[in-house]
Amino acid sequence: MTVTPVPRTAVIVVAAGSGTRLNAGGPKAFVGLDARSILHHALRGVFAATSAQVVIVAPTGLEGKALTEAQAVAGERRELVSVVTGGSTRQASVQAGLDALWAGIDFVLVHDAARALTPSAVFDRVLAALEAGADAVIPAVPVVDTIKRVDATGAIVAGVDRSELAAAQTPQGFRRDILAAATAAAAADHTDDAAVVAAAGHPVITVAGDAAAFKITTAADLERARALLGVAPEASMSIDPVLPRVGLGTDVHGFGGDGTLWLAGLEWPGEPALSGHSDGDAVAHAIVDALLAAAGLGDIGTHFGTDRPEFAGAHAAAFLAHTVALLADAGWRVGNVSVQVQANRPRFASRRVEAERVLSAALAGAPVSVSATTTDGLGFTGRSEGVAAFATALVVPL
Ligand code: CTP
Ligand code: MG
Repeated sequence: MTVTPVPRTAVIVVAAGSGTRLNAGGPKAFVGLDARSILHHALRGVFAATSAQVVIVAPTGLEGKALTEAQAVAGERRELVSVVTGGSTRQASVQAGLDALWAGIDFVLVHDAARALTPSAVFDRVLAALEAGADAVIPAVPVVDTIKRVDATGAIVAGVDRSELAAAQTPQGFRRDILAAATAAAAADHTDDAAVVAAAGHPVITVAGDAAAFKITTAADLERARALLGVAPEASMSIDPVLPRVGLGTDVHGFGGDGTLWLAGLEWPGEPALSGHSDGDAVAHAIVDALLAAAGLGDIGTHFGTDRPEFAGAHAAAFLAHTVALLADAGWRVGNVSVQVQANRPRFASRRVEAERVLSAALAGAPVSVSATTTDGLGFTGRSEGVAAFATALVVPL
């Protein structure tokens, strides 16, 4: 019988996130890469590198599934594995992992399950630095893009010297006592553990990371991971397709606003204005709703409610540009948009192409089709009381 020595090192694998930006229909760690999940691949790297205690932090309700996956990877080392339930933030999940460490543990590595393809050599480098006496050590890779500092409007404020920058990865390694004390004392929510430890005044050193340790955040990252694993595109479609998505949006505004009419991103001198928060541009609002619906990001009220005074007098371009940014954060870009206006006035025929061009420009160049119809004198549009707009949109993974 082999007796496993009591480990001095533990790896906390945080896997409790919901994967909002990946948007793959379930918690990210359980999304399939090939026949195996993201968590499975992450654990392969962990077990290849160390004989550490392994604590997996899982989403509520998926603890059993996480344990089954972990035991399959751990094989004979299954007694080293435990699963705990995560918290609402990454930091809370790390805390849950820390609470499950055994008494003899001196070094802790915290690893994102989402960095599923992290080579075992990265674990080795972090551990070696800890054993050589570092308090805190993170893998980092040089930043290859040219970085700019921008303000809230997207304008460039200043360049940043990229030779001073590095992108932080995981596993991040710490002396256990230092990480435990810093996490317990952390006032703010930090996006990684090095920030928690640095905020507590400890030096953090870097070792070389690895491009393969990238974090799977968006649908494009998932495709990249699958490509690296050699998953054929057809096979990846059958595992867990990240398909384009469609959405529907409608909006209605009544005439009776101040000033001139704004509709479909155009100003219509001499036409009666629509009323509503912002400029009452029902066409733009229907498009925003369709795009948000397609990306699963709620609706216009979620993001542009009356609590956002900066949109009070705003026109279509501001609404649409902000929507494109929200989509990009969630890993989507606009495929195309089709919108129909139902109204007696204004007459779109002579300005339809102009409206399409303006709306398309505000949507980062995505094609927009505008059509218009009257309702044969029926309903509120037929009585010229207001305007209705109906939009469909397609969004595609970035
Ligand atoms: N994580 C966690 N508990 C949380 C939030 C995140 O354990 N409350 C983990 C994730 O499972 C992931 C890692 O922290 O392995 C990095 O987080 P991130 O990439 O942001 O994953 P998610 O939070 O799941 O994704 P999103 O932010 O898109 O929802
Ligand atoms: Mg997150």
